[in-house]
Amino acid sequence: MENMKNSIINCATLDELEKVRVEIFGKKGALAAEFAKLKSVPGPEKKAFAEGLNKQKAELQRLFDEKMEEIKALELAKRLKSEAIDVSLYSSISHKGALHPVKDTMDRIVDYFTALNFSVESGPMAEDDFHNFEALNLPKNHPARDMQDTFYFSDGSLLRTHTSPVQIRTMMKGEAPIRIIAPGAVFRRDYDLTHTPMFHQVEGLVVEKGDKVGFAHLKWILTDFLHEMFGDVEVRFRPSFFPFTEPSAEVDISCIFCEGKGCRVCSHTGWLEVLGCGVVDPNVFEAVGYKDVSGYAFGLGVERFAMLIHKIPDLRSLFEGDIRLLEQFR
Ligand code: DAH
Repeated sequence: MENMKNSIINCATLDELEKVRVEIFGKKGALAAEFAKLKSVPGPEKKAFAEGLNKQKAELQRLFDEKMEEIKALELAKRLKSEAIDVSLYSSISHKGALHPVKDTMDRIVDYFTALNFSVESGPMAEDDFHNFEALNLPKNHPARDMQDTFYFSDGSLLRTHTSPVQIRTMMKGEAPIRIIAPGAVFRRDYDLTHTPMFHQVEGLVVEKGDKVGFAHLKWILTDFLHEMFGDVEVRFRPSFFPFTEPSAEVDISCIFCEGKGCRVCSHTGWLEVLGCGVVDPNVFEAVGYKDVSGYAFGLGVERFAMLIHKIPDLRSLFEGDIRLLEQFR
């Protein structure tokens, strides 16, 4: 009996304890052997003998259970200690974050213009018809409204289709001179390789008292800006139409992929369209109550800039949140 007790007490691991369990409580174990002796015990003593054995068995079982708990607690403590994480330690496999290419490109654009004393303005993404269309010389039923597939709310308000409404808001709350850019998200019902329902634009507006500014200023600043963004490229202004500017132009740069020789990205034209711009239409000034002023404006898509700068083929990949894309911009 004392031997059995000691073999339980001396166990240090669950494995050892299991071995002891078989030796003592197993079918061919020590206890079974003791109970087998019952057969040869004379009749009158059988009962007392059996009671004594049962008591000893119960005592051994209690010891065994206690030991089991003790070892389990010890092993848990050991594991917790060995698996403890030192959160103050630097990991060797660190995943560094990176600015999203759209944000990074937007920052670069903003930096260029703020360095020239432009201030940064913003406006609401849920706009009304007046600021998004009407005041920008896009009256109801104007065919140019079709160019912008608008998300409407049931009360007639809408998600802004461009950042141009910030022009209107800025002019209406102040007076010339104005020199602003307005970066932000815009929304259109469109989805394919080069269109997503949400994207970003940067709008620019310069207004001076009298006839101080015109197309020449616009041309100079945008040419310099595009050289800053894309390096040594050709810049050309191509006559175009926007309701809020007159004259209007679209601005192309020589293709940065084929250096103007013609390739798939530039549809073999040698040119990439990157901006819309023009001299502010008198109707816009009239809508905001401005008299005797002159100005120019421009608008550009940030994703398009980011895609060209980083040579990203599919616009949609910018919004899929795939960490493998971002890891390339560390
Ligand atoms: N709002 C135009 C668009 O979303 C871009 C634009 C073109 C803005 C010419 C302007 C501008 O301010 O003068 O396509």
